[in-house]
Amino acid sequence: MEHQTLYFGDCLDWVREWPDECTDLIYLDPPFNSNANYNILYGRGNGTPAQVRAFTDTWRWDTAASARLSPMLNAIGNPAHKAIKGFWELLGESGMLAYLTYMAERLVEMRRLLKPTGSIYLHCDPTASHYLKILLDGIFGAQQFRNEIAWCYSWPRNARRYYARTHDTILFYTRGPDWTFNADAVRQPYSPESEGRDEYAANASAFEAAVVLDPRDKLPQDWIELPPLRPNARERLGYNTQKPRALLERIIKASSNEGDFVLDPFCGCGTTVVAAHNLGRRWAGVDISAFAIDLIQERRFAPLNVTANIRGIPADLESARRLAGAKWADFQAWAVTRVAGLVPSDSMSSDGGIDGRGTMLAQPQGNYSRLALSQVKGGRFVLGQFRDFLHAMERDRAAIGIYITLDSVSSPGARSEIARLGSIRVGANEYPRVQLWSIADYFAGHLPNLPTMADPYTGQAIQSSLT
Ligand SMILES: C[S@@+](CC[C@H](N)C(=O)[O-])C[C@H]1O[C@@H](n2cnc3c(N)ncnc32)[C@H](O)[C@@H]1O
Repeated sequence: MEHQTLYFGDCLDWVREWPDECTDLIYLDPPFNSNANYNILYGRGNGTPAQVRAFTDTWRWDTAASARLSPMLNAIGNPAHKAIKGFWELLGESGMLAYLTYMAERLVEMRRLLKPTGSIYLHCDPTASHYLKILLDGIFGAQQFRNEIAWCYSWPRNARRYYARTHDTILFYTRGPDWTFNADAVRQPYSPESEGRDEYAANASAFEAAVVLDPRDKLPQDWIELPPLRPNARERLGYNTQKPRALLERIIKASSNEGDFVLDPFCGCGTTVVAAHNLGRRWAGVDISAFAIDLIQERRFAPLNVTANIRGIPADLESARRLAGAKWADFQAWAVTRVAGLVPSDSMSSDGGIDGRGTMLAQPQGNYSRLALSQVKGGRFVLGQFRDFLHAMERDRAAIGIYITLDSVSSPGARSEIARLGSIRVGANEYPRVQLWSIADYFAGHLPNLPTMADPYTGQAIQSSLT
């Protein structure tokens, strides 16, 4: 694991390559959508195994979950064995069990990576925190449990049949009986020297008031009252699940020292890694979304004149080809996000063969939606598959389609289909309605010819660039 490095891909694949006891602090905020339908989470055997990608944030029992479960049930020496066996009996083959087996695989590796004095913070919410605590007890040992921290993020909302849900849960465990904990570093009202100062001051007034006004006890508590980022917050990058940097700064200050190594295996838009950087820690982050990695580099570190090492993102056509051969889903997601404004589809199976979608900023002329669709194909070009894509475009009245291949395509059949579909007009400009575009083009410095697209996360205009 290298310092100042962002890794693209499934964190499990990366962490398995790293040595034992190489990090001092792990913070993880894995995908979990508490608003997900409880029938999906707890429902048993829904009968339609969907091919759900890891980051879709919904969990169903499927063949991948089943493949994860079997070894854990059989391997009595696996630290997660007892907890998973118990969950299996309690929950049956459900979305929740799928989620817990996924987490178990990764948490076992996280323990291995921690130094003997290291700590782990698992950010979750009450939907699954009770199960995750048992899982962590099983993997780390119940005696290594330190805190269940409540991050109280909002004032009560309307809830008439139960108490309003206004906090996330952060489970804090240590690897062993001696661990780093700098109570003094987080006991005083907090005033970060980093650029988020104003933001923090605005967000944290309630927390600070509570600390200042209560002279009996200034030591850190197991609750942190800190509002989530407001829509217009300066620090906000438009990444849905972005956490406030002040929250991560507290955790990092408390549980690591300058020069220590901090890892975030689900780093999203980089809150942890930028906080660690500003606090003089060494750091690494992993995310399965190429968009997230680009965002961290461009919006977090470029303004600080910091260049992070990037691993796993293809640097040339040959490495793109290798990624396509080894991890097709990662390749697809990366390829789609080369086109500014497109995001990978959540579920490969339920989106009619569409791998990426985006929205144009302006309405085109004619009877089209503002939708741009894309499909990614490897291997030999097949005209029939291209036509299926054109049908999907017609179905959605998509204004623009980008058919992405690894190598350039020269097919007379495709050319005549493209000519048949003609162009669309947006304002004063015309754009071909369908474009064949390849990763070879990308590395040759050519981008598709698109009207201005809307940033999928902020809705604002986004410019294409070669990154
Ligand atoms: C809840 S978000 C993390 C948000 C982050 N704490 C922040 O402040 O930006 C979860 C992230 O995990 C990523 N992710 C999902 N599955 C992953 C996996 N298997 N390996 C690495 N990253 C993954 C998602 O792309 C998403 O960015």
